[in-house]
Amino acid sequence: MHKQVVTSSVFRRSYSTSRSALSRSSRASSTQPVLLRTASLITPLQHHHQPQQHVQIQQTRHSSHSPMGLPPSTPRKKVTLNTLQSMYKKGEKITMITAHDFPSAHVAEHAGMDMILVGDSLAMVALGMEDTSEVLVEEMLLHCRSVARASSRAFTVGDMPMGSYEISPQQALSTAIRFIKEGRVSAVKLEGGAEMAPTIRAITTAGIPVLAHIGLTPQRQNALGGFRVQGKSKESAKRLLRDALAVQEAGAFAVVVEAVPQEVAAFITGLLKIPTIGIGAGNGTSGQVLVQVDMTGNFPPGRFLPKFVKKYGDVWGEALRAIETYRDEVKTGAYPAEEHTYPMPKEEVEAFVGDVKRLMTAKAMEVDGEGEN
Ligand code: KIV
Repeated sequence: MHKQVVTSSVFRRSYSTSRSALSRSSRASSTQPVLLRTASLITPLQHHHQPQQHVQIQQTRHSSHSPMGLPPSTPRKKVTLNTLQSMYKKGEKITMITAHDFPSAHVAEHAGMDMILVGDSLAMVALGMEDTSEVLVEEMLLHCRSVARASSRAFTVGDMPMGSYEISPQQALSTAIRFIKEGRVSAVKLEGGAEMAPTIRAITTAGIPVLAHIGLTPQRQNALGGFRVQGKSKESAKRLLRDALAVQEAGAFAVVVEAVPQEVAAFITGLLKIPTIGIGAGNGTSGQVLVQVDMTGNFPPGRFLPKFVKKYGDVWGEALRAIETYRDEVKTGAYPAEEHTYPMPKEEVEAFVGDVKRLMTAKAMEVDGEGEN
């Protein structure tokens, strides 16, 4: 009998009968702790439209298919636009991080991030492209879907890539609709200030929340003369303020402010009625966003890191150490050890070997007999 534990969120069972039968037959021999064995054959909903719910089956895992562990120990309420507004009103900082696939969203979700952004920075960090201009809507949508499957609480935002929204508000609206329907995110982000106001208006009027993005807008790096800090002069700071007010007026629920002097970002934040999410904009914004691979240190030594990034971990170093150790242990035969193998009763092994040896001897005698004829 499977012991089923139904918890607050996520997953429909999707395991095969044969696999569960195999699990039952060897459950008694497992040395894994029960907690590790739960949720083992559970995969996330294929159809991400439905609210997720956890159904945990206590049984032994014999494959590595499901990436899920236990849900966060303290269940948290889903973050909505209202939640973000109320955090903003209370002066509580809003936390946002990028994710580009199921595992990176999964860990962000467990860490209790308020917002998860499927940023077009995935062009470089997940797809190895030169810059963000190369990534396609279809590629963004694939990544949005995988992030959405892991994000049961965080408010998700999909970044509309360059070329998918600048032509007209209609083009932008139709791309935004695809992000919601196919990407399964809760909102879209687009780069640009006052000139994008009619576009933001068209999208928000259709009921799709928009996160605006002003300051350094990487999709426009060629026009900006590279990745340059914005708002450093009086005139440029005034332009930024005009942009911020225009996107707010057009209905954006929040605005990312990138690579701007902190005094300017803080001053603009004080004049707005929507939250500002800073990246390289100091501590006076309503929240912060960082690219996950940057802040977790998931990159090799020597890679360029913008000044504003704080490296909170060394994921690259840890993964490298683990993979090198695995390589060495396979080469020396240290892995797999006894505890990584499936036991079989000694008599069964002996009977099996005895049977095969007898069969092989009989076969050899048959062949010898044929040779004599
Ligand atoms: O693409 C991205 O990751 C972003 C954030 C840096 C804001 O736009």
